[in-house]
Amino acid sequence: MEKYYSQLLENNKKWVEKNLEKDPQFFNRLADGQQPPVLWIGCSDSRVPANEIIGAAPGEVFVHRNIANMVIHSDMSMLSVLDYAVNVLKVRHVIICGHYGCGGVQAAMTNKHFGLIDNWIRHIKDVYRFHHEELNAIQDEKQRFNRFVELNVVEQVYDVAKTSIVQSAWESGQQLHIHGWVYDVKDGLINDMKITIKNNDTLTEVYQLDL
Ligand code: CO
Repeated sequence: MEKYYSQLLENNKKWVEKNLEKDPQFFNRLADGQQPPVLWIGCSDSRVPANEIIGAAPGEVFVHRNIANMVIHSDMSMLSVLDYAVNVLKVRHVIICGHYGCGGVQAAMTNKHFGLIDNWIRHIKDVYRFHHEELNAIQDEKQRFNRFVELNVVEQVYDVAKTSIVQSAWESGQQLHIHGWVYDVKDGLINDMKITIKNNDTLTEVYQLDL
C-alpha cells in the first residue's frame, strides 16, 4: 500500500493512544453523545481545519464546509446541518469562517470557466455584484481580493440570519449569536469581522419573517 496512505491509519492509532493516555474516558465520554456550543460554517480549503485553529476538542464544534463557506438558502445539506445544530443540538454560536487567499472567492473575481463549479461560484459572483461599487474602487488587486473575502463572509452571516430556522429560534427566545471571521492562511490568525447578529432587527425589512 502507498506509504503516505498507510501512514494515515498509523497516525490514527497513535492519536487514540495519546488521547487515552491523557484521559482513559476520552472516547467513552464522546460515545455518550454530543453537545457542541458552536456550529462552524467554513471553507473546504485544506489549510483551514475548523477544530485545530481554535483549539477545540472533539465534541465542541459541529461543522459544515463547502467551497468559499457559502450559505445558499436552497442548499439542503447546509439547511439540514443548520436545522440540526440549532433545533436539536441547540448551539449558541454560528461562526462563518472565510479565509484570505480563498480560491473560490478569487475565481469569482475572474471570467475563467472551470466547469460545473462555475455554477457554485455564481453565488459568490452575486456577492461581488452587491458590493461592486466598493470593490471596483479598490485599485490594488490583492487588496480587492482581501476585501471581497471579508464582504463575502459578512454576506453569509446575513444569509444565515435570513433563514427561517434562525429567525424561528430567535422568536422562541433561543440564545443564538452569528459571527463572521476571516482566517489568514499566512499567519494563522483570525480577523473577527465584529458583526455579531443576535436578532432579526438588523435584516433588511423584506427578509424579516412574521413568526
Ligand atoms: Co476557500
